[in-house]
Amino acid sequence: MKGEGQRSNAKCLAYVAAFVVFQTAIILIFALTVMRIKNPKVRFGAVTVENFSTGNSSSPFFDMRLMARVTVKNTNFGHFKYENSSIRILYGGMEVGEAAVVKARARARQTKKFDVTIDISSSKLSTNSNLGNDIASGVLPLSSEAKLSGKVHLMKVIKKKKSSEMSCTMGINLGTRTVQDLKCK
Ligand SMILES: *[C@@H]1O[C@H](CO)[C@@H](O)[C@H](O)[C@H]1NC(C)=O
Ligand SMILES: *[C@@H]1O[C@H](CO)[C@@H](O)[C@H](O)[C@H]1NC(C)=O
Ligand SMILES: *[C@@H]1O[C@H](CO)[C@@H](O)[C@H](O)[C@H]1NC(C)=O
Repeated sequence: MKGEGQRSNAKCLAYVAAFVVFQTAIILIFALTVMRIKNPKVRFGAVTVENFSTGNSSSPFFDMRLMARVTVKNTNFGHFKYENSSIRILYGGMEVGEAAVVKARARARQTKKFDVTIDISSSKLSTNSNLGNDIASGVLPLSSEAKLSGKVHLMKVIKKKKSSEMSCTMGINLGTRTVQDLKCK
């Protein structure tokens, strides 16, 4: 009788231990995946050029329209709701154009895509010392910046502030009127 009782006690303990291990594993997996909230990533997908007009190296200027596909990659298990923002295009560190980004949400584990139109012009530059050289080289170097600030919403209760920053560089090939070497960090 005594032996049987001990055996069933040991069996019971083994069940409890197995259950605890199982629960711990589930909680750990949950904590490492679902609960780990990461910053979404915003970047340019593709950029094309329209309404292109530039001067030569002795009277340098540029005016053009960039049509850009923007992607907001949200790897979280909850949606990312971001506020109104803007995307700025810079030449030599100075702003030459801007586009508004209207507040929206990127759904859980999806990449939201939208298009923006940005008119850029060298007339917005106060100094353009290197513009003649860049035009002579045939490639106009540009960069872009944006910051989307918002919250990742998890399971209707957890809201965590997150932001997504864009930092891309590209060159406008003045011969082919296309964007080359688009790189985003
Ligand atoms: C840009 O070009 C399109 C046609 O390609 C034209 O309809 C539009 O008026 C132009 N915009 C500007 C600002 O020149
Ligand atoms: C540059 O453009 C200006 C104005 O269009 C023109 O007068 C000048 O001759 C051009 N210079 C060269 C080197 O092509
Ligand atoms: C966001 O932008 C839209 C469109 O420009 C505007 O109507 C709205 O009032 C803005 N919302 C906020 C909170 O600024």
